[in-house]
Amino acid sequence: MRTVKLGVLAALCLTAPLAIGACSKDDGGSGEAPADAPASAPKVTDADKAAALAALPAPYNTGDLSNGQSKFAFCRSCHTITEGGPDMTGPNLYGVFGRKAGSKADYKYSEAVKNAGFTWDAEHLDKWLSSPREFLPGTKMTFAGIHDAKDRIDLIAYLKVETGYKPAP
Ligand code: HEC
Repeated sequence: MRTVKLGVLAALCLTAPLAIGACSKDDGGSGEAPADAPASAPKVTDADKAAALAALPAPYNTGDLSNGQSKFAFCRSCHTITEGGPDMTGPNLYGVFGRKAGSKADYKYSEAVKNAGFTWDAEHLDKWLSSPREFLPGTKMTFAGIHDAKDRIDLIAYLKVETGYKPAP
């Protein structure tokens, strides 16, 4: 009797391994993949990110990416940073470095940002993030600012690494 039961179980495991949790230790995943990673995104490894960080101009090359990522929590209710990501309250920020302020197609900016007349780089972003409404009065970005200079450096380094910034050769 016992052998028969085991035989049946083994047969089920061979024929329908995915349907029977007990057959496989690692099925069902363990939630390792980030939930918001688009399936088609190219795989960027931590080593790629470390290399991109090291290639940034000082002081951003010493930025702390994990602190930058945690500071991005201030932004993510209004901004996406992935390539082709949607505009939300604020515009998608992929490719923002080297982009003229207020120039992303299909996003409706305030006059203040649309007419700012500069191109986003780390220096402008640092002033903007310290106090958007002091830097560009009339902006509709209702964000008080990040007052700690090191937090801004870490966040800017994180954004550079995540938004497709390429250092000049
Ligand atoms: C409450 C929503 C909100 C939050 C939070 C927010 N933003 Fe914004 N952001 C906006 C809006 C709205 C605009 C458009 C501003 C305008 O047109 O005046 C904007 C514009 C920008 C721009 C200019 C983009 C361009 O194409 O010129 C940058 C850069 C930016 N935000 C970065 C950030 C970062 C980094 C953070 C987090 C520290 C952040 N924002 C937090 C709403 C937000």
